[in-house]
Amino acid sequence: MSNSNGQTNDFNDKYLDMDLLRFTTAGSVDDGKSTLIGRLLYDSKSIFEDQMEAIEKTSRSSGEEEVNLALLTDGLKAEREQKITIDVAYRYFATPKRKFIIADTPGHTQYTRNMVTGASTAELAIILVDATKGLLTQSKRHAFISSLLQIPHLVVAINKMDLVDFNQKRFDSIVSDFRSFAKKLEIDNITYIPISALNGDNVVEKGENLEWYNGPTLLHHLENVRVDSSDNVVDFRFPVQYVIRPNQNFRGFSGRVASGRIRPGEEILTLPSKQSSRIKEIVTRDGNNDEAEPGDSVTFTLDDEIDISRGDMIVRRKNIPNIDSRFEAYLCWMNEEEMEPDKPYIIMHTTRTAQAFVKEIIYRMNVDTISREDAGKLKLNEIGRVKIQTSQPLFFDPYQINQKTGSFVLIDPATNVTVGAGMIRAGSTESNDLGLETDTRRQETEEPGPKTEDGRPVPGPRSPVSPDVVWEPWNIPREEREKRNGHKAMVLWFTGISGAGKSSIARALEKKLWEEGKKTMLLDGDQVRHGLCGDLGFSPEDRTENIRRVGEVARLFFEHGNIVLCTFVSPYRKDRSAVRQLFPEDRFYEIFVTCSPETAQKRDPKGLYEKAKRGEIKNLTGFDGMYEESIDENVILLDTEDQVLEKVVKKLYRQLSL
Ligand code: ADX
Repeated sequence: MSNSNGQTNDFNDKYLDMDLLRFTTAGSVDDGKSTLIGRLLYDSKSIFEDQMEAIEKTSRSSGEEEVNLALLTDGLKAEREQKITIDVAYRYFATPKRKFIIADTPGHTQYTRNMVTGASTAELAIILVDATKGLLTQSKRHAFISSLLQIPHLVVAINKMDLVDFNQKRFDSIVSDFRSFAKKLEIDNITYIPISALNGDNVVEKGENLEWYNGPTLLHHLENVRVDSSDNVVDFRFPVQYVIRPNQNFRGFSGRVASGRIRPGEEILTLPSKQSSRIKEIVTRDGNNDEAEPGDSVTFTLDDEIDISRGDMIVRRKNIPNIDSRFEAYLCWMNEEEMEPDKPYIIMHTTRTAQAFVKEIIYRMNVDTISREDAGKLKLNEIGRVKIQTSQPLFFDPYQINQKTGSFVLIDPATNVTVGAGMIRAGSTESNDLGLETDTRRQETEEPGPKTEDGRPVPGPRSPVSPDVVWEPWNIPREEREKRNGHKAMVLWFTGISGAGKSSIARALEKKLWEEGKKTMLLDGDQVRHGLCGDLGFSPEDRTENIRRVGEVARLFFEHGNIVLCTFVSPYRKDRSAVRQLFPEDRFYEIFVTCSPETAQKRDPKGLYEKAKRGEIKNLTGFDGMYEESIDENVILLDTEDQVLEKVVKKLYRQLSL
């Protein structure tokens, strides 16, 4: 990181430039992990003390009161920022060759949790196997998690060799067991080392008991293993943490660069608002920089005044992440209390927090056999492939491409405890036998099913229930009807929470059109739900079906030449975009009617919010039910917060050139 005003701090540079290896250790309770760590720390302690003295001296000479150990721990800030409450002890030691950070994860029952959190930034994982016991499920689970987390190097340390008389055959048979298991994992680099942590054999010094072994000692391996940075330097992602506005003249957006690089003058886009601007300055504590790169804590100023808040993301205009509130992920469950589908959790993803539901467990991974199993719940330490839905869209990349924007944690809102950690996989790609995708980039697949002449899907279910039903072309084509009516047919889809003003606007607009002699039809949730959709409630599935049916009805009226006004809460983006697909591009308008939840609750035209507050109705959109905003730039936004109805209607009328 260069510094344009030339300020440097010798100590920082010297110390930070030293090569660093972050590794994690995983083992069961009696595998001898503490002994091993103790041995590593002890045998390199003198070196560590030397280093400490050097740090103290330099800190004092640079005028600092305290020894600046923060320099060492700085890299761990990210974990702290994510507020992951963990039981992981970080330990530091150094040899003349390298600086080390060990994420020491206790091996008690919560081991998955500790391992996932501790290992998430590790470049190497040591998996301890007790030579007297052989390869146990727990070690397999650790290896599987390491593979999911994409830790590039694995060391299988076969410990307690002293208890098996340093027997080479025993070592070979465990290695062979592990090899056949690891074939099914995506780990390229596995090193097997026999050790006795208690006696010190092969930890730092080779010792005399393992003459048959020709490989490196554990420390030698740790010092020399080649680590390349796993940082994604291509896809610029900057989750905004704070907006800084010390005075009228300065407005900056602070945070840590999750991935990619950027320079002043480069074009950016903000999410979710999709506004573009350019980077003006990259401000740091030590002055302005001419480039920001992964891990940098910086404040950006932009060329234009743009509304950005915490949880938003700044990206490059031509390289944007997935924007979705539904995705698939591997989820490691970390809580004694089982994971329950459809229970509301809090998801923390980069700097964004939202409500999240696990909609489905696609399968649970049997880590012994690396095979899939059906499961209704996930228990402590279990790992599943799941579908997640969030109350607001997240900006993410698959974990394989971007570990920062591809990971998240789930928190139980009742206890504030981190209950799960996840790695996002792409939504619609094919899986191989392992459940690990071959192509991780998101692919938009075209809806299957029959199409009309103009390429749009035929009305009705995508695959007719009876295969003998044939699509018949319309008797009088829409174009003919439009000619006679003297105006185009179109669909105006009003969406938003109860009380936002959808119906009032649509009704006023329809009256106006009617008075002009136009052919119109108004479809309203409260009416449709009395007949056509009288069998449906407000579960997500029922709402999806409600919108599907209404979309099909709107299609019929549309083909009949009408201007169809639809007022439906339609809280799910996917449902709205499915309806959009039924119509030609320039004939369907999604109109998002919005106001603050407080205002909607104050208006409460049907007394529903009052009922919801009393607990008489559940899943009321805008209260305890989620609404997914569209990100599509074609959506027309109508903010009714303190607007007069006539004005809003007039504006919309003009905007649509009706
Ligand atoms: S949608 O979610 O499936 O699109 P729709 O627009 O048809 O809903 O119906 C919404 C109407 O149903 C609201 O105007 C309101 O009067 C009534 N309603 C009753 N319960 C709920 C609820 N839990 N959430 C939203 N609307 C509800």
